[in-house]
Amino acid sequence: MSIDLQRVRADTIGINNRLHFNNAGAALMPTPVLEAMTGYLRREAEIGGYETAIEQAERLDGVYASVARLLGAAPDEIAIMENATIAWQMAFYALAFRPGDRILTAQAEYAANYVAFLQVAKRTGAVIEVVPNDESGALSAEALERMIDERVRLIAITWVPTNGGLVNPAAAVGKTARKHGILYLLDACQAVGQMPVDVAELGCDMLSATGRKFLRGPRGTGFLYVRRELMQRLEPPLIDHFAAKWTAPDRYELRPDARRFETWENNYAARLGLGVAIDYALSIGMSPIMARCRLLADLLRTELLRIPGVVVHDLGVERAAIVTFTVGGVDAEVVLARMSAEGINVSTSKPSSTLLDARARSLPSIVRASPHYYNSEEEVLRFVQAIARLAGSSR
Ligand SMILES: Cc1ncc(COP(=O)(O)O)c(C=O)c1O
Repeated sequence: MSIDLQRVRADTIGINNRLHFNNAGAALMPTPVLEAMTGYLRREAEIGGYETAIEQAERLDGVYASVARLLGAAPDEIAIMENATIAWQMAFYALAFRPGDRILTAQAEYAANYVAFLQVAKRTGAVIEVVPNDESGALSAEALERMIDERVRLIAITWVPTNGGLVNPAAAVGKTARKHGILYLLDACQAVGQMPVDVAELGCDMLSATGRKFLRGPRGTGFLYVRRELMQRLEPPLIDHFAAKWTAPDRYELRPDARRFETWENNYAARLGLGVAIDYALSIGMSPIMARCRLLADLLRTELLRIPGVVVHDLGVERAAIVTFTVGGVDAEVVLARMSAEGINVSTSKPSSTLLDARARSLPSIVRASPHYYNSEEEVLRFVQAIARLAGSSR
């Protein structure tokens, strides 16, 4: 099934204003998402916030089913959060570590996750170990298998890192985790929305993601998946009276489902927008979305490589729709500013966001261009021409 490009572009008002290659930052929301959210907010203004939540309870509850469908999970395994970081933290900080426990992670791990590893290591005496890469630059599943012993308490990796098209072998990691009965926390923040995600296939116990990136949902949304069999063993690091019922003066009872990781108050309009964004993506189909994302990203890489002075930095054999590069002699922030002046949105990735990987490869700040399925081939070529002009004028 191919994507009806005309329809999806008609649903994307932002393309009339900008050439948007910052989908790894925040994608352009399609009109149905915008309308669901503004409609909900209007209703809150018209009849009241609590009253709207009661009126729209079924739609709001349906968001859990939408997230579950996206991941191949069940609704009771889903918590809806305000971002991917909180989702990840809730899972990670729910685990108890002892001195000598090993946390295995990937070289291109995201800064927010890594500083949390460091804090927990400092507090508990757990140790952090980085799984070496294979020759393509992806995490080596064979090396991981060789590192396993009875002290490995957690495998926590990022599937698609923030700083490039690399796709780590998340399902192969899951096989090792399952085989040895080790907990596996997967950061799928940059993967959801641009490729199919199936938690059973991935073999992960916990998975975190965000709404605003490739899913095209609103900012300030994210979610956590926790495998049902694990739920009762995970006490959230922070709780309120929504996560746990106050049943007696000296007792509380945690919710049985993943909503034990949530708190009472929420941005319901944003939640609804998240649900609509997921339904929109699923109605197009995650496989066609992945195929088109990769086609555009590959075209972009091929064309960028033709420009003298441009170096593409993406690792791995399998590559997602995050294209990172430098333009010889031009600082990444200058590239961003010059593109912005031409109505083109990109972002930059600083070494500190993936410190280990950046140090290992001596990477400076790099430009991150992330197309999505709703972008056109013409936009890719227009972007490449703008970069070629910039590279030419800098020589
Ligand atoms: C790989 C990765 N993980 C986690 C996050 C954090 O997501 P959020 O900003 O929704 O907390 C990001 C954001 O850029 C990311 O790229």
